[in-house]
Amino acid sequence: SAFSRITGTGSYLPPRRVTNADLAAELATRGLETSDEWIVERTGIRARHFAAPDVCSSDLGAEAARRAIDAAGLQPQDIDLIIVATSTPDMVFPSTAAILQHKLGIAGCPVFDVQAVCSGFVYALTVADAMIRTGTAHKALVIGAEVFSRILDFNDRTTCVLFGDGAGAVVLEASDTPGILATDLHADGKHVGILCVPGTVSGGQVLGDPTLKMDGQAVFKLAVGVLEDAARATLAKAGLQDTDIDWLIPHQANIRIMTSTARKLKLPMDKVVVTVDQHGNTSAASIPLALDHAVRAGQVQKGQKLMLEGVGGGFTWGAVLLTF
Ligand code: ACO
Repeated sequence: SAFSRITGTGSYLPPRRVTNADLAAELATRGLETSDEWIVERTGIRARHFAAPDVCSSDLGAEAARRAIDAAGLQPQDIDLIIVATSTPDMVFPSTAAILQHKLGIAGCPVFDVQAVCSGFVYALTVADAMIRTGTAHKALVIGAEVFSRILDFNDRTTCVLFGDGAGAVVLEASDTPGILATDLHADGKHVGILCVPGTVSGGQVLGDPTLKMDGQAVFKLAVGVLEDAARATLAKAGLQDTDIDWLIPHQANIRIMTSTARKLKLPMDKVVVTVDQHGNTSAASIPLALDHAVRAGQVQKGQKLMLEGVGGGFTWGAVLLTF
């Protein structure tokens, strides 16, 4: 087959929902002040979900994957490739994809993780598309799964209010009709320091700080510019215009990045899928979570043109333009 196409979507949020008010009360016990008003105005976030301490990315990802496999009308044993995008893996090794494969009750197919932080899902989808078009795989599971609550510093109010846990998944199948139309990936490692979790495991202990550090304003400025460039690059490759986009499904980091990107692409906000208000920033999980919510809400319809866009630590960024 010449193409790959999404045939099913699924997502899963851990049950514990934490509102801004809940978080403000928790931070107050640490002597830190924040408020629903501040968080909503600066980020658009109203609530996020946090996984229980014994729940890992592979648990959230496996549940999202089961739902995507169901939606595609397949069985787990039909899957012949699993790629998990995550920056919060269950273990240093093996991959979260290997753990998740076993949780789905299957064995044999290739599995691996992709680490591109908030761009992870568009990276993973691009890799799966390439593997399908070369005949290496036919029915791939592409999953974004994160438990960012594990790497947050709850003594830093400038970052801990921004992130949440969750997972989203798609089944990507070989197809004779076009699904994925164009992809565009980039990175620039000189920006490592503006968004990172600098700690690592060494000599039987954690060396360095294992919590998220971010220069929010530097991230904001970089993000808006590169998202416009990546979207325009995929449109040019596919021979399409910005007016051809039915839905923009951007990484859900912050409503202000999303409105700025939409404005640059001359898209009205009613063509932008927004879930950041209810999910917070779930990193690699945010795009497939938003896609699945929009599909199940009846917003995204078969045959529509979708622009998926990610940006995050690395610095990494990219876009995938597709016919759903
Ligand atoms: N509650 C109350 N006050 C706060 C909080 C909080 N949670 N956090 C910071 N403040 C205070 C600051 O201390 C500062 O106070 P001061 O003026 O007395 O010093 C004031 O609010 C303003 O802080 P700024 O950092 O200047 O606020 P800004 O308007 O830049 O908003 C934010 C911060 C939301 C992080 C913004 O920079 C942003 O959206 N950046 C994009 C980063 C992002 O979304 N990253 C997500 C991860 S990256 C990715 O996924 C691509």
